[in-house]
Amino acid sequence: MAQILQPSPSHLNDLADYLQSGGIAAIPTETVYGLAGNALDPTAVSKIYKAKGRPAENPLIVHIKSLDQLSSIADIPESGIILASQFWPGPLTMILRKKLIVSDQVTAGLKTVAVRMPSHPIYQELAGRCPFPIAAPSANPFGYVSPTKAKHVQQQLGGQISYILDGGPCEKGLESTIVSLSNPNHPELLRYGTITAESLSNALKIQVIDKVSRTNRDSPMISPGLLKQHYSPNTPLELFSGTGPEIQPSVAILYLYKKPSLSHNQYFLSEQGTLEEAARKLYDRLQALDRMGFKKIYLELPLERGIGDALRDRMERAAARA
Ligand code: TXA
Ligand code: MG
Repeated sequence: MAQILQPSPSHLNDLADYLQSGGIAAIPTETVYGLAGNALDPTAVSKIYKAKGRPAENPLIVHIKSLDQLSSIADIPESGIILASQFWPGPLTMILRKKLIVSDQVTAGLKTVAVRMPSHPIYQELAGRCPFPIAAPSANPFGYVSPTKAKHVQQQLGGQISYILDGGPCEKGLESTIVSLSNPNHPELLRYGTITAESLSNALKIQVIDKVSRTNRDSPMISPGLLKQHYSPNTPLELFSGTGPEIQPSVAILYLYKKPSLSHNQYFLSEQGTLEEAARKLYDRLQALDRMGFKKIYLELPLERGIGDALRDRMERAAARA
C-alpha cells in the first residue's frame, strides 16, 4: 500500500526530492489526482506508463508552474498567451508545438505537447519545490474512473506506488478541457471539461472548432486518448434521462439531483441542485457504487449544455463497452 502524505512542508520537501531522483507519486490537482514524475527524466516517464498500464501511443500531460517554464518546453503562440492569462492557473490543457527537450516518449512521438498549469494550492506548493516540469496523467489504471480523492488512488494504484500526496477532494472533479493550438489560427476543442468551448471562443475572438461533437466516436481518433470507452466502472452502467427506471433489488439508481424521498439503492450526485456539484461528485459516487456489488448502475444524463456537455461525455464513455 502507498503512504498517504499530508501536505506539511517537510513532506513536500521530501516528495520533491523523491520526484527529482526519478520516483513517481500521486498528487492532487483541482480536476483529478495525477500520477506525477519528472517530465524530463525518461526513467520517471516510463514508470508512469507502467504503473497506469497506459499504452505507449497515448501521450502525457505536462504540468508547468510558470510561463517561463512553459517557454522552455513549447512554442507559445499569441492565442496561447491569451488563454493562459484568462484561464491559468486552472482546468485548461493546451496542445502546443513541443521543443526538442521534450522527448518522444512523453508525447508518444507527436510534435506537440499537452501542457497545463493547475491551480490547486498543494500542487503549487510542490511544483515550487521542483526545478522541472511534472508529467502527470490522471492517476487511474488505464480505462478506469479517474480519482478525485487520495483514497481512490490508494484503492486503484496503492500497490504500484509509494506515495500519495493528500490534497483533499478535487474541486472540479472532471479532467481539464483540452484545446489544440497546434495550428494557432485554427483552435480545436479535443476534450470537454468545465471550461466551455464558448468561453474559449469568446476569449480568442475566433470560433474554437468543437472536434468532440463533430467526431463520430467510431471514426479515427482526434486525440490519442479520446477512446470511445474510458472512465468506466466494472459494474455495467446504463444511462437514462427523464423518469428513472423501476427500483429493483441489486440495481442502483444514481440521479443528478437530490429528490425528496429516496428509497434504498437510490442515490444522487448534487445536494444543492447544480451541475458543478454533480461534476465534482460523479467519479466519487461511481467508485463507491462500484464497490457495493450491484449488478447494474443506472445513471441520469444531464440535458443542459456547458458543463452538461462534459458530464454527458464522461457518462457516455463510462457506459460504453468496447
Ligand atoms: O485534468 C487533467 O487534465 C488531468 C490532471 C491530472 O491534470 N490529467 C489528465 O491526463 O486527464 P490524462 O493523461 O488522463 O489525459 C490527457 C489526455 C489524453 O487523452 C491524451 O491522449 C491527450 O490528453 N493528449 C496528450 N498529449 C496530447 C497531444 N500532444 N495531442 C493530443 N492529445 C494529447
Ligand atoms: Mg485519464
